[in-house]
Amino acid sequence: MESLRIYTEKPYRLRGQVVISGAKNAVLPALAASLLTSGEINLSNVPLVKDVRTMLTLLSDLGAEYELGKKSLRIKVEKILSYQAPYQLVRAMRASILVLGPLLARKGRAVVALPGGCAIGTRPVDLHINGLQKLGASIKIEHGYIVAEAKKLRGAEFEFEKKTVTGTENLVMAATLARGETILKNCALEPEVSSLCELLVKMGAKIDGIGEETIRIKGVDELGPADFRIIPDRIEAGTFMVAAALTQGDLILKEVEPDHLGALIDKLTISGARIEKLGRRSIRVIGSPEIKPQDVTTAPYPGFPTDMQAQFMVLMTQANGTSIITETIFDRRFAHANELIRLGANIEIQGDKAIVRGRTPLSGAEVMATDLRASACLVLAGLIATGQTTINDIEHLDRGYERIEEKLRKLGVKIERLKNNNNHRMGEKK
Ligand code: UD1
Repeated sequence: MESLRIYTEKPYRLRGQVVISGAKNAVLPALAASLLTSGEINLSNVPLVKDVRTMLTLLSDLGAEYELGKKSLRIKVEKILSYQAPYQLVRAMRASILVLGPLLARKGRAVVALPGGCAIGTRPVDLHINGLQKLGASIKIEHGYIVAEAKKLRGAEFEFEKKTVTGTENLVMAATLARGETILKNCALEPEVSSLCELLVKMGAKIDGIGEETIRIKGVDELGPADFRIIPDRIEAGTFMVAAALTQGDLILKEVEPDHLGALIDKLTISGARIEKLGRRSIRVIGSPEIKPQDVTTAPYPGFPTDMQAQFMVLMTQANGTSIITETIFDRRFAHANELIRLGANIEIQGDKAIVRGRTPLSGAEVMATDLRASACLVLAGLIATGQTTINDIEHLDRGYERIEEKLRKLGVKIERLKNNNNHRMGEKK
């Protein structure tokens, strides 16, 4: 188990520039899409995070060959050699479920472990299954695995009962090779879904309504090679934006897509930060010494992202007054609140609401990262908690943030990775 330790003599004031990486949640579906063709997919702006490596391990088992560059990746699945996604991989990374639709569409069979629960709550995949059944797949659950079969998927109309990101992605991918037209309603509007659709179009798919709630896909016989650039990671960008606001800093973020950050920009601006768009791909965030409390409710895009809830909570511990943060997407996504309390925050959890009473000075302590975004929240807290903050079980952070220590070090933060730290509490794995 590795830990990160942040040394904070006095709260940091972050100043400088950060280059934001490609989006983890966009590259994972793009990689899964490579299963739909024997052609080569050539991706640029690829973030080398642990989830990408996990996905590559899974895809190699399924028959992929790949070549990883510094920020690029060429991947080709000439022939599908296996159709099974084993439990250990799906458990380590839920996005493994994204191979279900493509395997079924190209190979006619897929056996993918059911992901089970995770650190942020119950996360069913029933809508993925219902949708694929609507496209003609026969699906059984056996020994903890989804066993799906379909000689040839056929187009159909399906309405998602609830907005689901990977659910929409799975169905769109499956429908590209189905016979006839598929109409998907109540699709997730997240930019990562649109980005996947754009890649699929480059591969030869016929998709209408990209970025809309109703997506129409006309199935084609086969898809081909494509070159594609991964969109910027809006959650990594958001995390650094909060870092600037939290530390009264002045940060320029490069390689971002400001249009994907609307809900966060609005909340940060009302809370007192100054945000300037510098050209098409840069944004400057200047923190204010006066942080105003804000009520925030997470919602599907374009609402406030659940993946930014934990980071925003740290900011609200430094606001002058009380904020109520409501989590509507996942049912147990407040584990970070207990760790923030260990650092001195005043937070009360009432069901799906966290009541954050500010402003409380934070002081460094040993804390435990329970999931990916909770880890990011604790790193942010470490920037203003005086003394040493040691964040244990840091592997969660490595799943989704590329070289975060290096990026923070460049901004003047004293941060160190500790290997084989035995001095940690045992915790649930995501
Ligand atoms: C994706 C993101 C994750 C983000 C989440 C919500 C990736 C790889 N992961 O996860 O970072 O936190 O979107 O923005 O892109 N649901 C069902 N049945 C289903 C599927 C989902 O009830 O079959 C529910 C979930 O329990 C949850 C909601 O729908 O309440 C949204 O989940 P979903 O969008 O599917 O999350 P993921 O795609 O797993």
